[in-house]
Amino acid sequence: MTYQNLLIHDEGYVRRIVINRESKLNALNKITLAELHHAITDALANKPIRGILLTGAGDKAFVAGADIAEFSAFDANQGRELAQEGQTNVFDLIHHANKPIIAAINGYALGGGLELALACHIRVATTGSKMGLPEVSLGLIPGYGGTQRLTQLVGRGRALEMILTGDMITANEALGYGLVNHVVAPQDLLGKAENILTKISTRSTNAIGAAIRAVNAGLDPTQNGFETEITAFAQCFGTPDFKEGISAFLEKRKPNF
Ligand code: COA
Repeated sequence: MTYQNLLIHDEGYVRRIVINRESKLNALNKITLAELHHAITDALANKPIRGILLTGAGDKAFVAGADIAEFSAFDANQGRELAQEGQTNVFDLIHHANKPIIAAINGYALGGGLELALACHIRVATTGSKMGLPEVSLGLIPGYGGTQRLTQLVGRGRALEMILTGDMITANEALGYGLVNHVVAPQDLLGKAENILTKISTRSTNAIGAAIRAVNAGLDPTQNGFETEITAFAQCFGTPDFKEGISAFLEKRKPNF
């Protein structure tokens, strides 16, 4: 499938999805969100793909936010629909994916762009990247999960400072906050993200999915994370991956999942 605003590239077990709307700093308009929903659903259903790398086209922006021009005349109902649909179809889809998704942040990650990175499981950023949730300067608040996921990741005080001031922080500040996992030179960004995904792709795909599910359950007030962990742990025992992992250990060889 060809997309209007996405580029797709497979490298081994890793699928790279590039948001390709450089003239608008890769801002998330309706069509880009619909394409992201399709591309991520497709990657998750594609068995040989074991990890997804999400990045932005060009060297200026990962994603500079939701498309401001597109929602400029919205009323409250349309605003609700925008947030609800986006959260369900893209941001929650990424958050709950059973394959790892890494955001490779190559410049501005603002508003919906930072929220997109926050929904991913791991974040790697270039040294010059800037991150922020500037919605209050537009008379808005974050609507794609930013108030929740940023707080979970960096704590209430730091999240509130970022959300209430709307200020951007540097990649190194984000590293200090625990908002990004790694900061690298621009030329090393894709390699670093791909290395992490390639390493994960050698592990049990069943166990990877179960681990993501258990970690996410602990962040969901409607679930008991410990109970989810016990159930997911138990389910691992019945799987071919468990058999292979244990056999490989006992036979002193690498497992082949
Ligand atoms: N929505 C729609 N268009 C956007 C956009 C967004 N979130 N962010 C950038 N663009 C567009 C600009 O309108 C401009 O388009 P034009 O050339 O047709 O006028 C183009 O992308 C380049 O942006 P520009 O503002 O000229 O670049 P800059 O280097 O001067 O500034 C930013 C970069 C990121 C600081 C600035 O674009 C910005 O503040 N963007 C909005 C960030 C934001 O508030 N995001 C949250 C949205 S909820």
